[in-house]
Amino acid sequence: MKSIVFVVLTLISISIFGDSSHFGSQNCAQCHQKQYEHWKKTPHFKAENSLTDAQKKEAKCYSCHKPEQSDVGVSCESCHGDGKYYAKSYVMKDKELAKKLGLKPITKSSCSKCHNKYSLHGSEKDPKKEPVCTTK
Ligand code: HEC
Ligand code: HEC
Ligand code: HEC
Ligand code: HEC
Repeated sequence: MKSIVFVVLTLISISIFGDSSHFGSQNCAQCHQKQYEHWKKTPHFKAENSLTDAQKKEAKCYSCHKPEQSDVGVSCESCHGDGKYYAKSYVMKDKELAKKLGLKPITKSSCSKCHNKYSLHGSEKDPKKEPVCTTK
């Protein structure tokens, strides 16, 4: 019984603190230097700098400006999905497998979870029109 309670508690804490399958933008850069350099020039990289130290501790601010505690600003994985399981060459080359292991296709809703007309100060964004990590 004790072990079941432990497993349940562990699952709950993973879902609350969700960083466990996070890979890290700097680690993505090992293979995606070009996207990394581009992303570093965007407001997403600097998003946490818009918050004061006190606001950085408030969920109502960091949930969009720095969703992962261990990463910088709006990280690669805020849009592409947590990468620990897909961030391997042989997985990434197989698009279907990468998807099964957490790589999320980019759609309008990848943006609207933070950019939407109901949020504090968001405006809607179209991923097709606003390059965010590529120079296309
Ligand atoms: C060990 C190297 C490696 C790492 C680390 C890595 N990737 Fe990749 N990634 C690749 C390769 C290889 C491809 C396939 C490129 C191709 O086929 O043109 C790829 C493709 C992609 C694609 C395009 C997928 C598609 O459908 O076209 C995205 C998006 C991506 N990676 C994001 C990430 C993110 C985000 C991270 C960090 C969480 C990451 N990658 C870490 C090697 C890597
Ligand atoms: C729902 C997501 C979301 C939340 C929550 C949120 N922000 Fe923002 N914030 C954004 C977006 C998106 C922008 C970019 C503006 C846009 O899309 O029009 C932005 C822009 C800003 C800017 C302007 C930066 C500039 O240079 O113009 C400041 C300052 C800011 N936010 C502070 C805060 C503070 C303080 C909080 C907490 C009270 C907060 N934000 C909560 C999404 C959010
Ligand atoms: C704000 C959301 C967002 C962030 C943050 C972001 N990306 Fe992307 N990424 C996209 C979009 C949108 C595309 C274009 C997808 C498409 O083809 O429509 C893309 C495409 C890619 C591709 C496919 C190849 C290409 O250049 O088109 C790779 C690889 C990639 N991103 C890696 C990264 C890495 C690495 C980071 C962090 C350094 C990152 N992305 C940060 C949204 C994002
Ligand atoms: C995790 C939340 C989050 C996601 C997901 C997200 N953004 Fe953002 N975005 C922000 C925040 C926060 C800012 C404001 C950064 C600042 O200046 O503090 C911002 C700023 C921007 C800006 C520059 C400010 C402006 O109003 O022109 C653009 C362009 C942008 N985002 C496009 C996108 C696109 C396109 C997507 C989807 C592919 C996307 N974002 C996904 C949080 C997010």
